[in-house]
Amino acid sequence: MHADSWAIKAKQLGLRSRAVFKLEEILKKTKALKKGPSNILDIGSAPGGWSELIRLLSPSSQIFAIDLLEMDSIEGVTFFQEDIINIDQIEEISLLKKKFDLVISDLAPNLTGIRTVDEENIFDLNILTLEIATNYLKQGNTSFIIKTFQNSLLKKLRLEMEKSFQLVQTYKPAASKSKSGEIYLYGVNRL
Ligand SMILES: C[S@@+](CC[C@H](N)C(=O)[O-])C[C@H]1O[C@@H](n2cnc3c(N)ncnc32)[C@H](O)[C@@H]1O
Repeated sequence: MHADSWAIKAKQLGLRSRAVFKLEEILKKTKALKKGPSNILDIGSAPGGWSELIRLLSPSSQIFAIDLLEMDSIEGVTFFQEDIINIDQIEEISLLKKKFDLVISDLAPNLTGIRTVDEENIFDLNILTLEIATNYLKQGNTSFIIKTFQNSLLKKLRLEMEKSFQLVQTYKPAASKSKSGEIYLYGVNRL
């Protein structure tokens, strides 16, 4: 299917974004979503497609979402409009440090168009997200899904992830526009 057809399909199904299909595919392949109740953190969640999907697939889970932008409410999802750099100041979330089962991040910075600047910005934001994931995930049997971009710092990011996760894999979902350069890394700790 052409990448833009996913946007049309999302609209027809009443979904908030095309991003839903990307997460759906990654979850199917990785089985990152456990059966039964989990604590799940959605970073860079607006307009809410991923949160909506997680809620649908795992209705008994506790889901927290955070974004700089506003997000229309979703039943069963606790949303905070905040910069992720301030996540530790959100009491409801920070009380659950080391208690999350799954952290997902579709975060993307505003692009300047200057390649080196954009690559650095993406890398810094990804590293911040990785730090949050390692601080908030439980000790074992946990997963982390993060969007990043194919660029000169991708290898460095993957190496950083490998310090915190036993297995790191790369996914390029069919619904992701090939020219966008976006790519998803999946980290898992089984024990
Ligand atoms: C591609 S969108 C996420 C789409 C979402 N996963 C969905 O399915 O609807 C990326 C989001 O990252 C957010 N973002 C970027 N930088 C951020 C930051 N520092 N803190 C919180 N959110 C941020 C943007 O506001 C934007 O809403």
